[in-house]
This record gives sequence, C-alpha cells and structure tokens, in this order.
Amino acid sequence: MPKIHYVAHDGTDRAVEVAEGETVMRGAILNSVPGIDADCGGECACATCHVYVDDAWKDKVGAPNEQETSMLRFRRQREGHFASRARSP
Ligand code: FES
Repeated sequence: MPKIHYVAHDGTDRAVEVAEGETVMRGAILNSVPGIDADCGGECACATCHVYVDDAWKDKVGAPNEQETSMLRFRRQREGHFASRARSP
C-alpha cells in the first residue's frame, strides 16, 4: 500500500498507508490526520482539505483540475491541491 506523508504547518510528519487510488483527503480522514477537516466531504466546496504537494510528487498527482483552480482563486495561497481530488499513486 502506498504511504503518504502528511506534514503539518509546524513540521510534524505523519506517514500513513493509504489504499492505491484512494483520495489523499479520505486517507487523512480514515487515519485521523489532524488539519484536514474535509467539511464538505470532498465536493470541492469548502477548501478545508487544501494541501501542498511536494515537488517530487507533482508529476504523479498532476495539475489542479478546473474545479480546484476555481476554488483556489478565493484563497490567499493560490497554489496547491484539494486533498479530496488528489489520489494515492
Ligand atoms: S473536502 Fe471540501 S474541498 Fe475538499
């Protein structure tokens, strides 16, 4: 199973195994990773699953889709992804 490292803003690194193809958001929720609330359940409406993808993984995750890009316009930091869209490799 792929292992995803969730790094909090304070540098705390928590690695959890997430099923292949599962969203990064669900991986966080199912493993009680703090900081990813996912209030809208992955409907791309709340931005509480906003994450930054390490440069080493950007090619695998791909660019933010149109819905993510639209939501990111409302955030101060306009980069990143929504964990509810990014999937475990
Ligand atoms: S869970 Fe709401 S945008 Fe991802």
